[in-house]
Parts: sequence; C-alpha cells; structure tokens
Amino acid sequence: MPEQELGNQDYVTFRDYLERQCGIVLGDNKQYLVRSRLSPLLRRFDIPDLSQLLRKVVNGHDRTLREAVIDAMTTNETLWFRDSYPYELLKSELLSKFKGKSGPLKIWSAACSSGQEPYSIAICVLEYLQRNPGAFPGGVQIVGTDISTDMLSRCKAAEYDNLSLSRGLSEERKRQFFETMDNGSMRLKSQVTAMVSFRPINLLESYASLGRFDMVFCRNVLIYFSPQVKTQILQQIAACLPSAGILFLGASESMSGLSDAFSMIRCNPGLYYLKK
Ligand SMILES: C[S@@+](CC[C@H](N)C(=O)[O-])C[C@H]1O[C@@H](n2cnc3c(N)ncnc32)[C@H](O)[C@@H]1O
Repeated sequence: MPEQELGNQDYVTFRDYLERQCGIVLGDNKQYLVRSRLSPLLRRFDIPDLSQLLRKVVNGHDRTLREAVIDAMTTNETLWFRDSYPYELLKSELLSKFKGKSGPLKIWSAACSSGQEPYSIAICVLEYLQRNPGAFPGGVQIVGTDISTDMLSRCKAAEYDNLSLSRGLSEERKRQFFETMDNGSMRLKSQVTAMVSFRPINLLESYASLGRFDMVFCRNVLIYFSPQVKTQILQQIAACLPSAGILFLGASESMSGLSDAFSMIRCNPGLYYLKK
C-alpha cells in the first residue's frame, strides 16, 4: 500500500477517536483531509505509513504524537478583530456595564487559536481605559484557552509576522500596541500581554478550574462539533457566567435548539447572548 493510502476501517476508527478526544466531527469522506494534514508527521515521528500512524495514535500512549495529531487536525484560522461587531459592542456598550466593578473584570476567550481574539479584546479594553481611566479598579484578567499546545506557544510568544498583522489590524493599532522585532515581525507590547494569560483547555472536559467570568468569547469552534457536544459545552459555559453575563458565538454560529440558558440580544450589527 503506498504511503498516502488510507483504508476505510482505519479512517473510521480514527474519525471516531478524534470525535471522542476533541469533539471534531469529520464526516464520512474526509480521508483526503486526514491524509493531507497527517502525512507531514510521518517523517517527524519516523512512522512508515499513515495507517500505522493512526493505529499508534488510537491505541498507543505517545502523548507527543497525540498532541501533534490534534494540532494538525484542528483548524486554527483566525484574525484580528474578527467580524468587527463584538469589539465595537465591547467599546460602545458592554464594557460600560462593568465600570466600577470592585473585583477584576474577567473575560474568557475559549478556543483562542494563535491569540488574535484575546489580544484584540485586550486592545479594546486598553482603548476603553484611555477614554475611561480607572474604569476597572479591580483590574482586567483575560484568559485564552485552546486544545492545541502549538497554538498556545504562539499565543505566549505574542509575536506575529506580516501576513497575520495584515489581517484586521489598523496601522494606528500596530503603532500603538506593537513593537518591531529585529526579524521584521512585531511583538505585542507588555501593556497588552500583561492583561492576558493562557492555559490548555479541552472544551469537552471540565472547565470548573478556570473559575467564573463576566464575558465569554466562544467563537468559530462550536461549528466543528455535534449538536450534543455543542449543548454540553453551552451548559458548561452557562455555569461559568453569572446572571447577565455575556457570551459571544461566531457570526455563523447559532444557539437555536441547543440551550435555553441564554437570551439573544440583537444589535445593529451583530448579536450577543445574555445568561438568564
Ligand atoms: C477556527 S479557530 C477559532 C479561533 C478564534 N476563536 C476565532 O474566532 O478567530 C478554532 C480553534 O478551536 C480549537 N479547538 C478545536 N477543538 C477544541 C476543543 N475540543 N477544545 C478546545 N479548543 C478546541 C482549535 O485548536 C482552534 O484553535
């Protein structure tokens, strides 16, 4: 069997494993996706063909291989200030709801990919504080989480190349919140990074250890999961929020039929959810 071939039984076993591990539903005929994403790992892990790699992942206990496979199978597409409206709403009305809060304002970016989402939130908070000095006397804590250890390393480095900087960042924000590195990339200034911490969290597992939040961004990740898994995740997120806590989903994601713990607030443009 040539290196790239993938038998149906191996595919089905891996597909079920992936859904159990991280919720991602691959569907019936995504052999090409598995092939194109995992073939580059063969050389790195010195494994002769894809079927053997899949069997090692499903049956073995090699944590590094397992993480590399999950990293490769997740879609990490993201950009700065994605869809604009969540960030405009933050600055125009939502941050004001927490003005004067005695404890820290806590915001969670679940499934934060390479960090653009939590850092965009931090930049909005800093811009809001420029107009409203002392608005959050208890400080602001933004937590970014993701299942991918590779993405979390990038988040912590807070360094971005020209391509990622060209996606959604204005020149003014680059000038104000980034510094240029010797290699031409740009790094976020410490006033931004100091507000954000990162942790590995699989949304299929418990997040009780994260504590409670005033706002949650869970954007462009539920789309990969089954309705049952979406419902479980929304139930857990609801438990992290107080009444009137705020939740943003992705622009193409809906809560319809999945949870009755939230009320939808339509805005112009966009929408968000309030915990009942
Ligand atoms: C498309 S990105 C979305 C990034 C960002 N939220 C945004 O909207 O731009 C999806 C992210 O979900 C993460 N992910 C996938 N399955 C996950 C799981 N079970 N638990 C936590 N994160 C997961 C992936 O690693 C990826 O970084």
